[in-house]
Amino acid sequence: MTRAEKIIEREHGFLLETYNRYPVVLERGKGVFLFDLEGKRYLDFVAGLGVNALGHAHPRIVKAIREQAARAIHLSYLYYNEYQGGLAERLCRLSGLDRAFFSNSGTEAIEGSIKLARLAGHRIGGDAKSQLVALEGSYHGRTFGSMSLTGQRKYRQGFEPLLEDVKFVPRNDRSALAAAVNHHTCAIVLEPIFGEGGIHECSAEFLAHCRTLADQHRAALIFDEIQCGLGRTGTMFAFQTFGVVPDMVAIAKPIAGGLPLGAFLAKQDFASAIHVGQHGTTFGGGPLACRVALEYLAVVEEENLLENVRRVGDYLHGQLQLLAARFSLPEQARGRGLIQGLELAVPARPIVEQALAEGVLFNSTQDTVLRFLPPFLIEEKHVDRAVRVLKKLLGRTGVARKRGCAAQIATDS
Ligand SMILES: Cc1ncc(COP(=O)(O)O)c(C=O)c1O
Repeated sequence: MTRAEKIIEREHGFLLETYNRYPVVLERGKGVFLFDLEGKRYLDFVAGLGVNALGHAHPRIVKAIREQAARAIHLSYLYYNEYQGGLAERLCRLSGLDRAFFSNSGTEAIEGSIKLARLAGHRIGGDAKSQLVALEGSYHGRTFGSMSLTGQRKYRQGFEPLLEDVKFVPRNDRSALAAAVNHHTCAIVLEPIFGEGGIHECSAEFLAHCRTLADQHRAALIFDEIQCGLGRTGTMFAFQTFGVVPDMVAIAKPIAGGLPLGAFLAKQDFASAIHVGQHGTTFGGGPLACRVALEYLAVVEEENLLENVRRVGDYLHGQLQLLAARFSLPEQARGRGLIQGLELAVPARPIVEQALAEGVLFNSTQDTVLRFLPPFLIEEKHVDRAVRVLKKLLGRTGVARKRGCAAQIATDS
């Protein structure tokens, strides 16, 4: 038995069986590459599901972790630490919102934001102002609150009863939204770009309509930017891409360079509804995670990575469009920046498995969608490599090809 086989067997024997992992043990990474136990190299278009925006072992992140770990990792919420206030200030200045709360994960950031929306709603309209409006096909996490907002049966089934008072409307359906939101609504919660849901964007008009209805009914507009935020669309917050400012925004994934950290930011009108003792967490906002998050934001700014996200994102989009045309895929490539998806006519997982053998990591979601969430450091030459592999694998699936546009797609020669 190889070392990898032993590791895999041990997991199967002792872990709760919740994941369908790919059969590889990854050991270390450098930049946009990962290496398995045998030293085989993989080009990373997954980035730990959107977490490793700075790639792997970024020297500034490693240095910040080393230095801070030697000073203080955890201190608890009983005391002030050097970095939490500074990180809150930085995020508030970047977003234009007023206050931050730090959690350990995305799902907890969503939980906190809907708790705050309930408090603010009750303050205005009493207990009845408690309804939540969310979108069909969305994904917000696995705790009871965030699962209750997730508009996909497969994540909810078996766990009922969930939170009551959640209404779902189709994405971009303005009249359904208008019918669902009323004076009992305390929050409209949505991802500006669905991540797990298959890379589907809300239109700017729909988001603006959400803003208008939220204002009209004094409800909170909450954006879940856990996957699409913090630079992935080419702006620091996705809402800056769409030009609609929410009352609260939930973030997580890349913020602390791979350490667990989430946050929600809120406008003062909503933030003022909460009082000491009404929310908290043991780990959230510790000095190590906050210091590393400040470093993450500094690297994104100083290395001009948002510009890279936009430029290479456009290039990736163009290459995926060509693939969609060449292989007569059901739709064009979706998404922007470095959050993109390609709808296949066939199950996507086998393609992901074959790409693994070719040394490229992709991810599939919603059965037939290939999802691309590479590190922000990715370059055009890496896109070319990934596209060459995809071209080869899609060619093998035997899907009908269109003639004529092959020459523009990156080729081996
Ligand atoms: C849009 C969105 N919301 C919430 C979550 C949940 O975040 P976490 O897994 O950190 O709890 C995710 C995770 O993928 C996500 O993509």
